[in-house]
Amino acid sequence: MERVNLWRSPEHALNYLTRADTLPHRQEGEGVILDLIPKDGKRILDLGTGNGRLVSLLRVDRPQTEFIGVDFSPTMLETATQRFAEYGNVEIIAHNLDEPLPELGKFAAVVSSFAIHHLSDRRKRELYGEVFEILEAGGIFCNLEHVSSPTPALHEYFRRCVGLEEEPDDPSNQLLDVQTQLDWLREIGFGDVDCYWKWLEFALLVGRKPN
Ligand SMILES: C[S@@+](CC[C@H](N)C(=O)[O-])C[C@H]1O[C@@H](n2cnc3c(N)ncnc32)[C@H](O)[C@@H]1O
Repeated sequence: MERVNLWRSPEHALNYLTRADTLPHRQEGEGVILDLIPKDGKRILDLGTGNGRLVSLLRVDRPQTEFIGVDFSPTMLETATQRFAEYGNVEIIAHNLDEPLPELGKFAAVVSSFAIHHLSDRRKRELYGEVFEILEAGGIFCNLEHVSSPTPALHEYFRRCVGLEEEPDDPSNQLLDVQTQLDWLREIGFGDVDCYWKWLEFALLVGRKPN
């Protein structure tokens, strides 16, 4: 079946940006990421950066760190590029995550929020492997993700909680359960793998590349 990804459409991107701040509990998950990411890391990569929300949060306490954000939505790329125009330490790059990551060098941390669930399951796993390769030894991967619910009733409850009960599911979503993704991270070689925070379909999946 043909996969649908609506994120290149400006309407889709802008619709998300108008409600991004209102997603319940996301700040708790983001807070855990801020606690986990070292303040002295040289380089951090954000996958599916959108308007650069996570980069912006991380930058506050990491003014010396070099950030790269990748995305494929023209609207998001333009918004993020403008947002960081005056800062020399943030680079926004156009890249479709359906394709292997380009050559970007090594990173102290790779982060992502609510983006990787737009990829096929096969591509999610491949991407996790690519993330492992580009992390420095001891580097950390934090994926704040939209995951699947264990039952249809819990999915409907989540949709009510986020105020989307009147709208159809976004066909761009390729939701996958937490456990499968944690198992993949372990198989790939990540250590300290766990779900470090979760609220219904929002989950923070974390792994560290061993030293
Ligand atoms: C829900 S938004 C999240 C944006 C941002 N990370 C945040 O937390 O606000 C999903 C992001 O993933 C990006 N995205 C979806 N599919 C993608 C793909 N195949 N390649 C690159 N970016 C993609 C979208 O353009 C969008 O910016």
